[in-house]
Amino acid sequence: MTQAVLEVRGIVKHFQTRGGAIARAVNGVSFDLAKGETLGLIGESGCGKSTLARVLARLDTPDTGEVLLDGNDIGRIGNRAMKPIRRRIQMIFQDAVSSLNPRATAGAAVAEPLKLHRVVPRNKVKDRVAELFEAVGLPVGLMSRYPHEMSGGQCQRLSIARAISLDPDIIIADEAVSALDVSIKAQVINLLMDVQTRLGLSYVFITHDMALVGVLSHRIAVMYLGRFVEVGDADAIIRRPMHPYSQALIAASPIPDPDRPRTQALPIKGELPSPIKPPSGCTFHPRCPLAQARCKSEVPELRTTGEARQVACHFA
Ligand SMILES: Nc1ncnc2c1ncn2[C@@H]1O[C@H](COP(=O)(O)OP(=O)(O)OP(=O)(O)O)[C@@H](O)[C@H]1O
Ligand SMILES: [Mg+2]
Repeated sequence: MTQAVLEVRGIVKHFQTRGGAIARAVNGVSFDLAKGETLGLIGESGCGKSTLARVLARLDTPDTGEVLLDGNDIGRIGNRAMKPIRRRIQMIFQDAVSSLNPRATAGAAVAEPLKLHRVVPRNKVKDRVAELFEAVGLPVGLMSRYPHEMSGGQCQRLSIARAISLDPDIIIADEAVSALDVSIKAQVINLLMDVQTRLGLSYVFITHDMALVGVLSHRIAVMYLGRFVEVGDADAIIRRPMHPYSQALIAASPIPDPDRPRTQALPIKGELPSPIKPPSGCTFHPRCPLAQARCKSEVPELRTTGEARQVACHFA
């Protein structure tokens, strides 16, 4: 097995809501991310994907659990100790335009991290910015433009240029292409895949788009109410999901693959329960077509079944 760049161990992140209740956004997530690997992260809105992403990128600290980068826990180290490490994990967001400083030109936006982290000597910054523009397919002529003068696709390319300027090991992409038009989306995906091969990057790729996650990911993690319920090889999960929730999620999404066997569609009953008052036992049990008495009381562990697949279900 290849060495993991990132080992995530038992991450818990709860939020106190305004009313004083506790929202269990992430409730014990563990996984490894190998060098050059893409882990696709899927699950309904509100299941905790962005919260987990922010903890992994160390934009937020976990309540408990560890985020090990090359074996060192970065979960709770201070900001000063974090500075040299921060460049190694970069995050790109859905709304590229608003994640950029509106008063900085495109050139300045890419120069900033280079200067901040002293990636290249000052007199080389300009050349490096030009190289990065080229690397992400942005015309050098756009350097003097402001984000609001650029298209969504160009802004996302700019975010990617900023992220790779620091020569990171890992990029966490949170719905990074979701807001883009279909053809632009395809271009940005191609860019991300191209950059990954060139630089040997690892990705955590969060998306609602099941067709996309299958194409892009080596492995997929299916998240439900703050936990992973199924993790495994991307093709295998798309073709033969084992957890009833994954089955429902995948059956509900149009995947243009004539080879995929048509499993009986399992409609998901009801809505995602609130993370403030998650159901007992297996949190999926109120919506699950297979649920039995045991599911109400016993939390199913994420256990390995067969070829490198992990499933958290008493009956899968
Ligand atoms: N700062 C916060 N304070 C209180 N609750 C929060 C906070 N951030 C997230 N939550 C809650 O945690 C849960 C998970 O939110 P999160 O944004 O991680 O979900 P998500 O999977 O990214 O959803 P989406 O697909 O809509 O982006 C939600 O119930 C959300 O309301
Ligand atoms: Mg989110």
